Amino acid sequence: MNICVVGVGYVGLVTGVCFAEKGNVVWCVDINENRIEMLRRGGIPIFEEGLANLVSKNVSCGRLSFSTKLDDGLDGSDICFIAVGTPPRENGETDMDQILSVADDIGRCIKGPCFIAVKSTVPVGTNRMLCDRIGARLRERGVDHPFEIISNPEFLKEGVAVADCMKPDRVVVGAVSEGARSLMRELYAPFAHESKIFFMDPASAEITKYAANTMLASRISFMNEIARLCDAVGADVRSVQRGIASDRRIGEHFLSAGCGYGGSCFPKDVTSLCGIGEAYGLDMTLTSAIEKVNRAQKLQLPLMVRRRFGEALGGVKVALLGLAFKPGTNDMRGAPSITLANDLAEHGAMIAAFDPIAQENARDVLPPGVAYGSGVMDVLRDADAAVLVTEWPEFLSVDWAAAGAVMRRKILFDGRNVYDPAALEPLGFEYYCIGRGKVPS
Ligand SMILES: NC(=O)c1ccc[n+]([C@@H]2O[C@H](COP(=O)([O-])OP(=O)(O)OC[C@H]3O[C@@H](n4cnc5c(N)ncnc54)[C@H](O)[C@@H]3O)[C@@H](O)[C@H]2O)c1
Repeated sequence: MNICVVGVGYVGLVTGVCFAEKGNVVWCVDINENRIEMLRRGGIPIFEEGLANLVSKNVSCGRLSFSTKLDDGLDGSDICFIAVGTPPRENGETDMDQILSVADDIGRCIKGPCFIAVKSTVPVGTNRMLCDRIGARLRERGVDHPFEIISNPEFLKEGVAVADCMKPDRVVVGAVSEGARSLMRELYAPFAHESKIFFMDPASAEITKYAANTMLASRISFMNEIARLCDAVGADVRSVQRGIASDRRIGEHFLSAGCGYGGSCFPKDVTSLCGIGEAYGLDMTLTSAIEKVNRAQKLQLPLMVRRRFGEALGGVKVALLGLAFKPGTNDMRGAPSITLANDLAEHGAMIAAFDPIAQENARDVLPPGVAYGSGVMDVLRDADAAVLVTEWPEFLSVDWAAAGAVMRRKILFDGRNVYDPAALEPLGFEYYCIGRGKVPS
């Protein structure tokens, strides 16, 4: 098939290259000229395992092209995917500017019958709204090309996005016509067995995406609340986690307590779902509590540091290990490291930080005084405390005996509960973590 993907970010680029890898001819279109220029020169604007190789392979064999002009991608395409951002506004509502602007562009460009699939995460009713918007542009042009908007939310996980896209757990398709359903069936056949392609109405597809993310976020917030209870009563949240994960009705995923969830999706999607319900006059008590718990959880690490060193952190050097919102990505959106670094900087701490991949993006969002190191030992040198924020694999094998020798004080805050106090305490480390009874008094 000939495919156009509009929006070449984490979702659009990964989706586009995976469609190309399965033999489709794909145009990826973005208004960001620097991004398109970089891709044309062989650069990759985001970090995802395996992405760079797939992009260069598919560009070389002529199946993947990049443009800033929608016409280049839309001409002759069987389907156009929209994968632009839907960030939150200050008031928590979804900012629809990018997606409505794409709808206008599509309405001005299409030259014949067209299927348009929405991969962006969008509030219920967007499918209808885009129909109206594109229809209005077509009427202005005095043309009447038939088109259908398909809701096809994306569930890939940053860090393993290529693998997720190539082998999705399921494909959700909100479509009204048999033509749209059959096109999507054909397109996704190389990716997923037909039993894993779920057809439904567009509104249900739109809600499915929000419900999935909110469910996952709720499990994390729930475990973080249990972690606080564990700290209060002297229990160990990791034992509790094992105890409940073994229940097949519960399962093992998304039950790790830590320093709060981040990323570009969970915080905004939970808030957005809440807003959607409230707009329909519903009481969204449970959903609104999920983000409230998470906001409080992101403050746990800085609170622990201040409880240990006092409110005035002048002269205290804190080394942050990991900055990205999770391992495997350079995405800093909503990362707990932002809350932590801002809080520590406000209280006068000297901050040294290292992340294997996200450091460049971090410079744009962390306070200006943060010093970036070239490796773990570099930032730990003369540090009064280390804080593990993102559990990159290389941080799991730190030689803490050697690290202790270069640190000014051997104090470790483990925001992800990955280290073993029985190994660290004999080395002379004060070890603090989440929900295991090890908090500064
Ligand atoms: N990042 C994820 O893990 C993930 C997972 C599932 C779903 N989603 C959803 O997918 C959507 C995209 O997310 P993302 O993380 O890829 O966003 P992103 O910010 O990384 O990328 C969006 C891209 O769209 C481009 N863009 C904006 N307006 C445009 C226009 N008018 N025409 C062409 N391009 C335009 C931007 O320049 C940018 O490159 C969002 O709705 C998000 O909620 C994201």
